[in-house]
Amino acid sequence: MRGRAWYQEEEVAESYEDERFGSRGGALINRRETEVLLSLLGDVEGTRVLEVATGTGRFAETMEREGADVVGLDVSMEMMEQGFERCGGLFVRGDGSRLPFREDRFDVVVAMRFLHLIPDPRPFVEEMKRVSRSSVVFDTFNSRSGRILYNRFLPMGSRLYGEEDVTELLREAGLGRVRRRDEFLFPFGGYRFAPDLLADAMETVDEALVSTGPGRALSSVTYWKASVK
Ligand SMILES: C[S@@+](CC[C@H](N)C(=O)[O-])C[C@H]1O[C@@H](n2cnc3c(N)ncnc32)[C@H](O)[C@@H]1O
Repeated sequence: MRGRAWYQEEEVAESYEDERFGSRGGALINRRETEVLLSLLGDVEGTRVLEVATGTGRFAETMEREGADVVGLDVSMEMMEQGFERCGGLFVRGDGSRLPFREDRFDVVVAMRFLHLIPDPRPFVEEMKRVSRSSVVFDTFNSRSGRILYNRFLPMGSRLYGEEDVTELLREAGLGRVRRRDEFLFPFGGYRFAPDLLADAMETVDEALVSTGPGRALSSVTYWKASVK
């Protein structure tokens, strides 16, 4: 399991945010991912949220600021150490395929930038459903997108999903699909390495294109909110 080991390296954990969100383009990604997540979640004030694979807690912090009672779980203490400092939520070390919580313990369970790291997502999604009362939110990196240009070279490994893969995954877990958002025609790698002066223009073009049918079909990330039946 490359992704699991990769994020437990101290150097990888320490540079995680700087490398991804440190440039102008990187900051735009972070902002847009956060906006999409919050729009899918709706009002989280007073709700109990579990974030699986919380990493450095960037979304845990945001959801806590929005009034949610957040628990973050991750296999890497190295990643979560940054989370301890940035928010007051509870952080638990654990494996997403065996969640140490009872059924229906949370209102919502979220996993961002996670499903691409695991060879078989089924036990993870089943566990997310088991501990959630109302919905499960996650993202997938898409097989029909610009990500194919560099995906295979990523050292932590990265699995791409087609729409049919997710449909099957949701069906097998007994989840209902409610809402989806297709975003980022230009994949994350393009933004991260874009010169600062270009990043805003890229985002404007991206948002215009991804709001069209063909642009949506080629988006590099899809965000899913599935209801727990
Ligand atoms: C790309 S990071 C994403 C972190 C955070 N969700 C974000 O979007 O910034 C992936 C995270 O998945 C965690 N991870 C990998 N395998 C895991 C597993 N089996 N159970 C729980 N967390 C895991 C890694 O430790 C890492 O923190």
